[in-house]
Amino acid sequence: MKKPVFEEFDGYNGIVEEIETSRKYGTDYSAYGDSVDKQINLLHPTRMKLRVSEIIDETSSTKTLRLTSQDGYLPPFLAGQYIALFMELSGIRTSRPYSISSPPNQTGFYEITIRRVEDGLVSNYLLDEVKKGDELESSGPAGQFYHNPLFHDKTMVCIAGGSGITPFRSMIREIVECGLERSVYLFHGNKNLNDAISHDELRSLSDSFENINYLPVIEEPSDGYQGLSGLITGDLIREAIGDLTGKTFYLCGPQGMYDFCVPELEKLGIPKRKIRKEVYGAPANICDYPGWPERVKADDVFAVQVDGGPTIEARAGEPLMLALEKNGVLIPSICRSGECSMCRVKIQSGKVFQPGGVPVRKSDVQFGYVHSCVSYPLEDMEVLI
Ligand SMILES: Cc1cc2nc3c(=O)[nH]c(=O)nc-3n(C[C@H](O)[C@H](O)[C@H](O)COP(=O)(O)OP(=O)(O)OC[C@H]3O[C@@H](n4cnc5c(N)ncnc54)[C@H](O)[C@@H]3O)c2cc1C
Ligand code: FES
Repeated sequence: MKKPVFEEFDGYNGIVEEIETSRKYGTDYSAYGDSVDKQINLLHPTRMKLRVSEIIDETSSTKTLRLTSQDGYLPPFLAGQYIALFMELSGIRTSRPYSISSPPNQTGFYEITIRRVEDGLVSNYLLDEVKKGDELESSGPAGQFYHNPLFHDKTMVCIAGGSGITPFRSMIREIVECGLERSVYLFHGNKNLNDAISHDELRSLSDSFENINYLPVIEEPSDGYQGLSGLITGDLIREAIGDLTGKTFYLCGPQGMYDFCVPELEKLGIPKRKIRKEVYGAPANICDYPGWPERVKADDVFAVQVDGGPTIEARAGEPLMLALEKNGVLIPSICRSGECSMCRVKIQSGKVFQPGGVPVRKSDVQFGYVHSCVSYPLEDMEVLI
């Protein structure tokens, strides 16, 4: 008799062994009825309805939205994680992730802090249209950018660019409010001091707590400014923190900041495993990315056939996911940065460009799946959702 086709997949025997181990030693949760599912859903809800209970002005381009739960319950999170907001704007059903800027010990609400992006669809809506009392739809908390006491040093050197300060605000508030045994050096790069989100709060925490060191770094300081200025270079970091050992480095900010700061840290001899980077969306100018084929221009438009049905137009300079969303094709998403793999689609024919460093599973590569949030069409294509 012919073997069933699934037995031919790589790893089939391993999976069978794991199932047998699980049957032999594992707990049969079905005995608990649906209570386990309920607990899991409480901790990891796929969707939540949140109410805007407060809007706080931060800087001229930034506001904080305080969000409470409709049913009084918010799942716990780790300082540094984010939620994705889902909405329909200008006929496009889309989502954007925002780091939770309030600390996890504050269980009554989440805060997210939004900076305006010029011509940005969602940031402008959240800043200009959303009012107190409005309802927003979100994912549960997600993301890998948090301090793990098993692996990470007790001294954190945090490097933030612009709105990249938000996860660090959450971490610092938790450290001081819960008396955690951890020290922080926080470098916050901004064009000018007026742009620095949470500046007064962070300065006051730094003045009051020995283990919190807040170090704003201003690129274009006004006359008479006395603090650190210029870019966040390796020399500036070493001078401020002294001994580099026993410290883990955390970066959150725009791509340009990573391109500059990571080599600076490497020049200081910081090993890669001590440098942790938050994902920060798809690259803004993908055509400048190393490896982008010169023959393809950002405004080139390709035909993408979806699920063997209708064909949509997709611009080379825009993630495939955005083209699908603009044409009413719903793609599950959370991080929009290539990390969570929610947005996988199968490429039947045609090519996409994927920037280096996106963690795609080996089996996905083998069977032609890509993360559509960070895949850019390079020719006419057929995709399966
Ligand atoms: C894990 C994660 C956490 C995030 N947390 C925060 C947060 O706490 N606060 C916050 O304000 N934002 C945060 N962001 C960014 C946020 O998700 C949106 O990308 C941002 O608000 C812009 O969305 P938009 O719809 O306004 O712009 P879009 O309409 O998506 O983009 C418009 C144009 O601006 C460019 N662009 C997009 N984002 C940026 C940017 N950040 N800076 C400069 N140019 C950009 C795009 O390439 C595009 O050309 C986070 C992103 C990630 C991945
Ligand atoms: S939405 Fe997370 S990988 Fe694309």
